[in-house]
Amino acid sequence: MIRKLATVLSVLAVVTVIAGISTADEKKENKYSTKKFMQAVKTGGLHTKVIKGEASEAETKLFAAYVKALPNNKPPKGSAESWKKLTSALAKATRLHLAGADGSAEALTKAMNCKACHTPHKVYPPKE
Ligand code: HEC
Repeated sequence: MIRKLATVLSVLAVVTVIAGISTADEKKENKYSTKKFMQAVKTGGLHTKVIKGEASEAETKLFAAYVKALPNNKPPKGSAESWKKLTSALAKATRLHLAGADGSAEALTKAMNCKACHTPHKVYPPKE
C-alpha cells in the first residue's frame, strides 16, 4: 500500500514538474518575443533611453531581458547564422554598455541598426 502511494506521488511529482516547465517556457516566449521588443523599441524608444543612459532600472532590465531572449526567438526570415551573428553582437554591445565601457553607446547604436537586421530578417510588407 505504501509502495503504491509512493509510486502515485512520484508520478504526480513528475507531471507537475513537466507542466511547470512548459508553462514557464510559454510565458518566456510571449513575454520577450521579437515583436514585443520591436514595439517597445518603436513606440517607447526603449533602446534610445538605454543608449543615452536615461532608462530607469526597470527599463534597463527589460531591455536586457529582450536582448537576452532574442537569439532564441526565431526570426520570420533569413539564415540562423546571420540571426545568431546579429543578436549576439547586440548582446555583447548591451553588456559592454551596461558595464559603462568606452565607446559603448556608439557600439550599441550600431548593433541596434534597424535596417541592418530588418533587411535579412524581417518580412516586407509586414503580415497584418
Ligand atoms: C537584431 C535584429 C533587429 C534589430 C536591430 C531591429 N529589429 Fe525590428 N524587427 C526584427 C525582426 C526579426 C522583426 C520581425 C518580427 C516578427 O514578425 O516576428 C522586426 C519587426 C519590427 C517591427 C514590426 C513589429 C510588429 O509589430 O510586427 C517594428 C516596428 C520594428 N521592428 C522596429 C524596429 C526599429 C525602430 C529598430 C531600430 C531602432 C529595429 N526594429 C531594430 C529584428 C530587428
